[in-house]
Amino acid sequence: MRRGSVVQLVAIGAVCGAGAALVALLIPWMPHAASEQAGRIDLVFWFVTAICIAIFALVAAVILYAIVKFRAQPGEDADGPPIHGNTGLEIAWTAVPAVLVTAISIVSAVVLAKNEHIPHASAASSDRLTPLVVKVTAQQFAWSFEYPGFGKLTSATLKLPINVTTKLRITSLDVTHSFWVPEFGQKEDAVPGLETTLVITPDRQGTFPVICTELCGLGHAVMRSSAQVMTSQRFLSWAKGQQKQLGSSSGGASGKAVFTNNGCASCHTFTPAGSKGTVGPDLDKLAQEAQRAGKPLQEFIRESIVDPNAYVEPGFQKGIMPATFSSLPKAQLAALVAFLAGGKK
Ligand code: CUA
Repeated sequence: MRRGSVVQLVAIGAVCGAGAALVALLIPWMPHAASEQAGRIDLVFWFVTAICIAIFALVAAVILYAIVKFRAQPGEDADGPPIHGNTGLEIAWTAVPAVLVTAISIVSAVVLAKNEHIPHASAASSDRLTPLVVKVTAQQFAWSFEYPGFGKLTSATLKLPINVTTKLRITSLDVTHSFWVPEFGQKEDAVPGLETTLVITPDRQGTFPVICTELCGLGHAVMRSSAQVMTSQRFLSWAKGQQKQLGSSSGGASGKAVFTNNGCASCHTFTPAGSKGTVGPDLDKLAQEAQRAGKPLQEFIRESIVDPNAYVEPGFQKGIMPATFSSLPKAQLAALVAFLAGGKK
């Protein structure tokens, strides 16, 4: 091979490789990572992308060079001479991909092992945050989050302290859903009768969407919540404040807090809580609805929470409202009923 040809091949390869690299770098293909795990997944992504760009540049250079250099001249109609193998070339194109695939496997395996690792609580960090456990429950069509380390504290949004490894224990009450926060870089199915786990160490503060990424019924597209990453200090004061409001550490739960924490606002309109949901009946009109159902107001509200299918308001479907609120602690249920009946705190 002449030196001129090698220079030409390298030049074409450099131009093609640079073009592909610009497409990879200038377009924001991936969400801005907000967890250590997502950062490692991005590392694997870029490692594989760099290998792909190098192979693309090589193949593009050889193809373009061959098209220009070896095209048939006018009047030339004979095939080229037959070629019988090239041992050196064949060894190279077997060995190089084998090395690359092995390297990708090793990098991926290391990242997978690191991403699933949960550090044990050390004596130095004897707070309630290492590791933090959050129970994630999916149901048509809502997410709910429970913090077993904080007196069964519940929340309609996922609150997480920054730089703390959190273990999500995920399950579903009805069909298969899938938990996904794009900025955390991982997805995990929520399966009825099974507990799956996901480890997240958030490393960037902010509010990120929680998305259901498994087609689970009519409301799949609206099955959203949010994940809020904050400092450990703010997280602890939030947890403490909520525990107080929900009456799990002292008496007297706040009905409004129970309403917000159980995600009622995402489906129902209720002016005292400032909510405007339209998936379920308008709770500003509870008095008329109780009349239609032929029941006293308080009794009607309690029944509608613990046994939602007992009476379904005309224009709404059975089975949409989850029956899981029947497991609310007594004090919280009473506070919620009073809040809804009175329209005040
Ligand atoms: Cu739940 Cu889609």
